[in-house]
Amino acid sequence: MNIAVKVDAAEAAKADAHALPLDKINPAKVERFQDDTLWPYFERLRAEDPVNFTPESEFGPYWSITKWEDIMAVDTDHEAFTSTEGIGLGTLAQQAEMEKIMPGRSREMQLEAARRGEGSFIGLDEPHHGPKRKAVSPTLAPANIANMSPMVRERAGEILDSLPIGVEFDWVDKVSMELTAMTLATLFDFPFEERRRLTRWSDMFMNLPGHGPVESWEQKAAAIFECRAVFQDLWNRRVDAEPGIDLISMLAHNPATRGMSVDEYQGNVAVLIIGGNDTTRNTISGSVYWLNKNPDQYDKLRADPDLVVNMVSETIRYQTPLAHMSRVATRDVEIGGKTIKKGDRVVMWYISGNRDESVIADPNLYDITRERPRHHMSFGFGVHRCVGNRVAEMQLTIIWEEILKRFPMIKVIGEPVRSYSSFIHGYESMRVVIPARA
Ligand code: HEM
Repeated sequence: MNIAVKVDAAEAAKADAHALPLDKINPAKVERFQDDTLWPYFERLRAEDPVNFTPESEFGPYWSITKWEDIMAVDTDHEAFTSTEGIGLGTLAQQAEMEKIMPGRSREMQLEAARRGEGSFIGLDEPHHGPKRKAVSPTLAPANIANMSPMVRERAGEILDSLPIGVEFDWVDKVSMELTAMTLATLFDFPFEERRRLTRWSDMFMNLPGHGPVESWEQKAAAIFECRAVFQDLWNRRVDAEPGIDLISMLAHNPATRGMSVDEYQGNVAVLIIGGNDTTRNTISGSVYWLNKNPDQYDKLRADPDLVVNMVSETIRYQTPLAHMSRVATRDVEIGGKTIKKGDRVVMWYISGNRDESVIADPNLYDITRERPRHHMSFGFGVHRCVGNRVAEMQLTIIWEEILKRFPMIKVIGEPVRSYSSFIHGYESMRVVIPARA
């Protein structure tokens, strides 16, 4: 999309957002995320109907929670809001298609398992969730991050040194995907030369046919089977070996997880692959994009590289790489003056809470000098708060410290291609050119 078309689309969206009846806004509409016209819909909801009900949509009926305090109230009340009924708005059509291809793994069976306390820990409630989360957290904790960071720095430097100068290329592919794949391979102790398989599997899990690398439902299912086979083999080898600090060893040796079923292990692997990939990748791409859109901020960063840490958090807020998380009410509960009924689906729009003008001053400004840059909702709150947040911040900080040593400018060419998703808020590709080395 060129800039003029983008401006027209933004104007049309603004008019549409104000013309629609509130119950027809359906803020999860995927197309608006792909063409970056989502903002006025959330602006209107925050102002006029912060706890909004969409009675009918391609995702079924759902509540949208769009203001900071209300999102916080839902996210921190894991008794009233369960994670076992699915944590993202998946399309019903997608579930039905996958069930046809992968018999024996129906959505209903997966939900039943989660209610019993089996499944990937992002989709479990207490008391099952906590001990399983604890099994992987040492790998993602500060001590291990400190051990890993010299290696991440060296690899980040190698990626940057291999980039062409004065020639256009795709930043998403050459940098964002590559760095996150390298880090994830290290966290899993996955064969390093095969690291881009992790990126591919993550993309195959998350995309619908016609988007990203997914061509058909069959091809998507085949990739899932392939990933499962490779990770089963890794488990079999780690379970009898001396325990290491990698994520698979942690799962294979911790008393809370070593007896997991195959499906439960594979569910955890999928969450770690997706968690470690898309989010960080899109923040790396987002940082280049937003610094280009805000040249005064890019100037400040160049003038004072100590601002990198602040810039990283401001980008995580501004980008909000996971636009939402979803829950289902376990009882009738009042949020923002509305009664959410037992069994209703609730969507916490972090992407809107991060622009809530009553909590963040000038929230639509990208400002890398904010006093409290970590004051954002992008990692969620409560028992499921992102367990990988320090790993993400470490990678982003290191890549930018290394970029600033090497390149005065990374110039974005045109508009990026955005992800077709209202869950992952990111970029499929982004053309850039690096005019010169420092
Ligand atoms: C900028 C990067 C990242 C963002 C914005 C992000 C965002 C999130 C969010 C919103 C949640 C759910 C919070 C909630 O429900 O309250 C979450 C959970 C999680 N994230 Fe991240 N994440 C990022 C990076 C990572 C990385 C690098 C990893 C792993 C290496 C990771 C692994 C996980 C896992 C395993 C969970 C589930 C935690 C639980 O259920 O207890 N994330 N993340």
